Amino acid sequence: MKIALKVAQKNSSPEAIFYLIEKKSQLSKLPFDSKQKKQIKNSFEKNSSFCCIQSEGVSNIVLLLDTDKNAAYHRENYRQAGARCCGMCNDASWESVQIANSGSLSDGHLLFAEGMALASYQFLKYKKDAKKDQNSLKSILFDKDSTDKKSISSLANVLEAVYQARDLVNEPLSYLTAPQMAKEFQRMGKEAGFKVTVWNKKRIEKENFQGLLAVNKGSVDPPTFTIMEYKPAKAVNKSPIVLVGKGIVYDTGGLSLKSTANSMDHMKCDMGGAAAVAGAMFAIAKNKLKVHVVALVPATDNRPGLNAYVPGDIVRMRDGLSVEVLNTDAEGRMVLADGLSWAKNYKPELVIDLATLTGAALRTVGPTGIAAMEKDSGKHLDQLRTSGENVYERLFEMPLWREYGEMIKSEIADIRNLGGPFAGAQTAGKFLEHFTDFPWIHLDIAPVAWSYHSEGYRLKNGTGAGVRLLFDFLSNR
Ligand code: BES
Ligand code: MN
Ligand code: ZN
Repeated sequence: MKIALKVAQKNSSPEAIFYLIEKKSQLSKLPFDSKQKKQIKNSFEKNSSFCCIQSEGVSNIVLLLDTDKNAAYHRENYRQAGARCCGMCNDASWESVQIANSGSLSDGHLLFAEGMALASYQFLKYKKDAKKDQNSLKSILFDKDSTDKKSISSLANVLEAVYQARDLVNEPLSYLTAPQMAKEFQRMGKEAGFKVTVWNKKRIEKENFQGLLAVNKGSVDPPTFTIMEYKPAKAVNKSPIVLVGKGIVYDTGGLSLKSTANSMDHMKCDMGGAAAVAGAMFAIAKNKLKVHVVALVPATDNRPGLNAYVPGDIVRMRDGLSVEVLNTDAEGRMVLADGLSWAKNYKPELVIDLATLTGAALRTVGPTGIAAMEKDSGKHLDQLRTSGENVYERLFEMPLWREYGEMIKSEIADIRNLGGPFAGAQTAGKFLEHFTDFPWIHLDIAPVAWSYHSEGYRLKNGTGAGVRLLFDFLSNR
């Protein structure tokens, strides 16, 4: 259930108010009498960063937040504090709480609310007793004078977009086949106001999307290719920014079946890139950003069905380049190649693809970062990296050296879909580069799309990673 963000009214009666401060001296600004202030000071002296004062049926919670020289850490401290307090709200069965910010960050209350709302997300669709399990928290209120209505509704829309992206990732294949995912995109487009076109298999054949068709050969469900477009009247960009999301609704590895224990358990997350770009479209359309954005999603599951593509196959891609398939588990790059090659038609200003592409990226960056590669390093990536710091979906740049290109040369075809034992994330990036003729950034989100345990507001399971990153980037364009 999504959480409402609102400006407090005279008659709104929150069950708790969170007062955010960074220094004990800021206590003087808070509406407590001297006896209460003394009590708060005492509790802070005891090395606590938290104090609760009950008065007139309201829990007044004063939080002493950690600052940091590093702006990204400083902002993240507020989100994490919000996430911690989310647990408190739901344990106490509070439905409505208010935030009063006296710290040094002018948007500290929004950051705190962001962490709180993201931590309150639940995926209860398949629970019989969903009502009973539901979190109590329904709305977060802000002081009248602390913030403008626009930044509140903007945040609410972004949070709703993250919720939707998480829902998509959490949906299992038994529901979310490629055609079903396309239907979800159509629903999101209707709700937020962007155009959605879905191609069926026939159309995909007509356009010669041989990478997507090859991966789909082992599946019983048809593939889809979805084109989402948001084009406002007065866009700041002449040619669109194109997003491409990997839409593998389930990755078994195909005939190169995933064989290590449990490695398949969470492979419903392999459409995390698709969820991120659809979520970003939802957020920008709802917030009516003045940017022209297109999102493309090639989608299928990757299965070892009777007619599945096999190691050794050679696929001639739509632009004529031949690919030797040496591992059917390197399927993401096969379907992304078609998405990227279709993006050429838009003569885009910039293309960003998001894909849960390699375990190598996860091993390199660890579960908190995104592996980023850019053709013409620095051109747009610097700005995207700044957004990453802003929203704490941070990027780690990897190079696209020509030597990595050598590693995917094939003896029998032009290139192969498997690199050597080294630099797996970069050789995958190098593969994709073949299908680009535009400014391009590749984001390998395999490290962050799925979370193995809850950490603050990054809850276990689908994270919705990429939505806030793309929204921040596009709103600063
Ligand atoms: N979907 C996987 C990558 C992945 C790994 C996503 C872990 C999320 C978490 C991708 O299709 C894959 O199987 N990659 C292979 C590539 C290899 C065969 C070249 C990998 O990384 O092992
Ligand atoms: Mn795979
Ligand atoms: Zn995959």
